[in-house]
Amino acid sequence: MTESQTDLSPDRQVEEISKAFELEFERFAPFISNPSAVTELDLETAIAEDRAAAELRTRYLGKKSPLAATKKLIGRVVPEERARFGQKVQSVEDQLEKMLDELELRLGNHIENERTARESIDVTQPGRRPRSGHRHPITLLRERLEDVFVALGYAIEDGREIETDFYNFDALNIPENHPARASQDTFYTTDGFALRSQTSTVQIHAMQRRGVPVRMIAPGRVFRRDTPDPTHNPMFFQVEGLCVDRGITMAHLKGTVAEFLRRMFGPDTVTRFRPSYFPFTEPSAEFDFSCFKCKGTGCRICKNSGWIELGGSGMVHPNVLRAVGIDPQEFSGFAFGLGIDRMCALMYELDDIRLLFENDVRFLEQFE
Ligand code: FA5
Repeated sequence: MTESQTDLSPDRQVEEISKAFELEFERFAPFISNPSAVTELDLETAIAEDRAAAELRTRYLGKKSPLAATKKLIGRVVPEERARFGQKVQSVEDQLEKMLDELELRLGNHIENERTARESIDVTQPGRRPRSGHRHPITLLRERLEDVFVALGYAIEDGREIETDFYNFDALNIPENHPARASQDTFYTTDGFALRSQTSTVQIHAMQRRGVPVRMIAPGRVFRRDTPDPTHNPMFFQVEGLCVDRGITMAHLKGTVAEFLRRMFGPDTVTRFRPSYFPFTEPSAEFDFSCFKCKGTGCRICKNSGWIELGGSGMVHPNVLRAVGIDPQEFSGFAFGLGIDRMCALMYELDDIRLLFENDVRFLEQFE
């Protein structure tokens, strides 16, 4: 109760409180006089209005309200006025309570109806099918490659992505200061480990773990300090192949690669080998195959050459066999490796391999 109010007579105080309440209640009056004013409220507004009504109730009818203070005056008014004044206070209190009860009842009913409507489920509506995920184009291609080689009797070897220098370079006949380390520069950890720059590291693990004879492929992620462009990423996928046994020759390498490419791209596919250099194979060759789109006549995919370059290969270098304790006089083998991302880009006619890792679902959804 303000000071000026306490100066007033008890009767005036009660009248002032009643007037002040009516003034404040005016904004709620339409909710009482016009039922649609309540039913048109959205749920959030109705809840806010209900809270405002509760706050008004506390201010006017709570224990610390001015009206509660006037009740304490009842005992102080002259005895002959006491009953009348007591009834006046009570009747104002009853009036305020009635108005607030009515308001809260209307808002409360509307809130309940809105909540029920919002939570109700129409069981006759057709269900919404959840979007199902699917495999990434690189995974799809990797699985096709695996199927072809499993059918040719190859095991699938899992490699590790973090390697020591021994597996990434030394055992592959790339000693320190060898220029090939620069073209395969990768990312190093502070503890002397490196992210592998090629799946050829798995040749060493496979021979150590399985011994010889061995026939395996190893698909997996590799890393290089290459600047991203339409044909390069710093992280990409390769698949490695290795076959070591007694009497393995270049003819086995050529036959295997040619058969693999025929199974991937059709029985008419022609393969060719070009001399090349890799430190861990001798002799080494890169292999190309006749364009699957134009069948060798020249098109956009093969850049009008009729041929598509795919990967590197060669006869396992005797130093690599020695690094894992295998006698090169007794055993020989071939190895090959190719980039899955570039092969994927070719097959799906993508202009840019970076699309494969942007994770744009609109792009990825096309490869069911
Ligand atoms: C190698 O990595 C050899 N390990 C291949 C090999 C294995 C030779 C066994 C002999 C015996 P190369 O550096 O050329 O070779 O890479 C092989 C393939 O990886 C390339 O043909 C290409 O398809 C792919 N590749 C290389 N760098 C990138 C890159 N930055 N982004 C995407 N693909 C790449």
